[in-house]
Amino acid sequence: MTEKATLTIDDRSYEFDMFTGAENERCIDITHLRKETGCITMDPGYGNTGSCYSSITYVDGAKGILRYRGYPIEELAQKAGFVEVCYLILHGELPTARQLADFRAEIAGHAALHENLKIHFSGLPHSAPPMALLSAMLNLVSCFHPEVLEVVAEGEEFERTAALLLSKVRTIAAFSYRMAYGKPFIHPNPNLSYCANFLHMMFSEPYQEYVASPVIEKALNLFLVLHADHEQNCSTSTVRVVGSSRANLFSSVSAGVSALWGPLHGGANAAVIKMLEEIKSSGQPIDHYLDMAKDKNNNVRLMGFGHRVYKNFDPRSVILKKRVYEVLDELQQEDPLLDIALELEEKTLKDDYFVSRNLYPNVDFYSGILLRAIGIPINMYTVMFAIGRMPGWIANWRELLEHKQRISRPRQIYTGSTTREFVELRDRG
Ligand code: CMC
Repeated sequence: MTEKATLTIDDRSYEFDMFTGAENERCIDITHLRKETGCITMDPGYGNTGSCYSSITYVDGAKGILRYRGYPIEELAQKAGFVEVCYLILHGELPTARQLADFRAEIAGHAALHENLKIHFSGLPHSAPPMALLSAMLNLVSCFHPEVLEVVAEGEEFERTAALLLSKVRTIAAFSYRMAYGKPFIHPNPNLSYCANFLHMMFSEPYQEYVASPVIEKALNLFLVLHADHEQNCSTSTVRVVGSSRANLFSSVSAGVSALWGPLHGGANAAVIKMLEEIKSSGQPIDHYLDMAKDKNNNVRLMGFGHRVYKNFDPRSVILKKRVYEVLDELQQEDPLLDIALELEEKTLKDDYFVSRNLYPNVDFYSGILLRAIGIPINMYTVMFAIGRMPGWIANWRELLEHKQRISRPRQIYTGSTTREFVELRDRG
């Protein structure tokens, strides 16, 4: 028997179906609320609103659990490659050796950019923000591959489009870095792994091949795996909202890139490093910065802290913190920003402001330090996040089409003027 929730408005009761998810999360289905009661719900920021049923990623914010398709993030981070995780997220199952080899080959085959698409990089100033470039270029890809304009969520056509996107995003990202530094583009090498090929396109020079050390390749792989999906976050919701109008995959993820750019979302990874550098160069004690972050009279926030869903700890941050130590150690590097980050975290754990609001380090807190160790410049950090999040965006776009989701179209409560008479210009004073 379906569980019911009862809502009473003006002495009249209404019943709504309840639904329990695979992990016992409960929801009240209010699809017919407005029709039956004339009311809508109000939930700015959607903190209590479910927008879809999804079988891709599970997050339990109270317990600090994250699973892609049922597999714990801790295990995937340790044992899986990024392309393998992409396959898992897109298809719901881990690939066989054959499936993985085919998927890798399909991705590798799409790595080059059309010559006329490359021309667009040269018209931009070197200072062009790589996130603006990524969003624009992803949309432009469809001009050179019109087949991706077809809104197809199944079969070989979808497989090809998804592989093309996973491949092009990596090349566009690397080329935007090359352009910013006035360096010539380096052609992809299909014989390299996904991560090694990206590092090759970033750091090789015309007569000097960059060969990624296994430590660096592994660190990049970990970064991408940890960012691969995170259920209905701001950018993924954006991809779904855009996709709900039946916009094609490339324009939908291009919008996702724009949403990710903001400092409250993916832009936080770069903001964290800027904050740590500011603390270092200011010479002020860390407490001074904490006081500023607690003071509601300014707009300072402790970047890389807090999360809408995680109210205990972010498991990705725990993994990153441990790995950052190991990577710096293996590379025989030291990073003074790590010491500041550790002290900052330690202090917040004893500070009532942060403890009472459940503000713990999120994925962006230690990821910048890892990217610094790999040699990625700060203006590319959020682009790296976008490369990592691509499988999640694609899978969510596909799922919404499979579920034939209605177009996203929230309601509002109007608070402006009620009807009034138009005043002629000459009479307005
Ligand atoms: N520093 C100081 N105070 C904070 C912070 C912070 N980083 N985050 C939240 N608060 C306070 C906030 O002022 C509020 O206090 P009060 O109840 O007294 O008004 C309370 O904590 C709740 O915050 P909120 O803004 O209502 O929480 P939210 O769920 O709407 O926002 C967040 C979540 C991640 C946007 C926010 O915590 C934040 O701005 N963090 C810093 C930016 C950041 O690190 N973003 C990355 C998020 S994780 C990865 C990703 O999505 O990309």
